[in-house]
Amino acid sequence: MNKRLPALIGALFVVFLPALLLPIPAAAQEKPLSLYQRLGGYDVVAALVDDWLGRLRNDPAFTKFGLGYSQDSMKRRRQLTVDYFCRASGGPCFYTGRDMRLGHAGLGITGSEWSAAMQHLAAALDKFKIAPKEKEEVLKLISGLKKEIVEKSGD
Ligand code: HEM
Repeated sequence: MNKRLPALIGALFVVFLPALLLPIPAAAQEKPLSLYQRLGGYDVVAALVDDWLGRLRNDPAFTKFGLGYSQDSMKRRRQLTVDYFCRASGGPCFYTGRDMRLGHAGLGITGSEWSAAMQHLAAALDKFKIAPKEKEEVLKLISGLKKEIVEKSGD
C-alpha cells in the first residue's frame, strides 16, 4: 500500500469534514407537500368524495347511474372512488379498482353529464373551502379523466 495513502485520506477527511457537519438548508430538505397533504389528508379527501357523490345521487340526471346496485356495491364504489382520489392526489392509498376506461365502458356517459359532474365536484370543493390553487389542481386532475370516461360527445 502507498505509505502516503492514510495521510491523504486523513487530509481529505479534514478538508471535507466541515461540509459534512454543515446543516442542510431547510429548503433543500423539505419535499413539496403533495396535493393530498395540502387538501388536509384522508378525512378531507373522503369527505369531499362523499359530498360529491351525494350531489350526484341527488341530481335526477344521474339517477339512472345508481339503479340496480346493492347497498354494498354502492359502498364498494364509494370506497374505490375515495382510494382513487387519495392515490391520484399523492396520498398513501392503493387503488385496487378497474381503470377508468374499463370501469365506465358501456355506461354511455355524455359530455353534458360530464360537465354537470364536474360542476358538482367544484361545488363540493367550495363547500369545504378548498383554496383556489388546490381546487384548480383537483379539477384539473379529475378533468383529465374525461377522455377515458365520456363515450358520447353530446347530451
Ligand atoms: C359523469 C361522471 C360519472 C358517472 C356518471 C359515473 C358513473 C359510474 C358508475 C355507474 C359506475 C359503476 C360501474 C359498474 O360497476 O359497472 C362507476 C364506477 C366507478 N367510478 Fe365513476 N362515474 C363518473 C365519473 C367518475 C370519476 C370522475 C371518477 C374519478 C375518480 C370515477 C370513479 C369511479 C370508480 C373508482 C368506480 C369503480 C370502478 C370499479 O368498480 O372497479 N367516476 N362510475
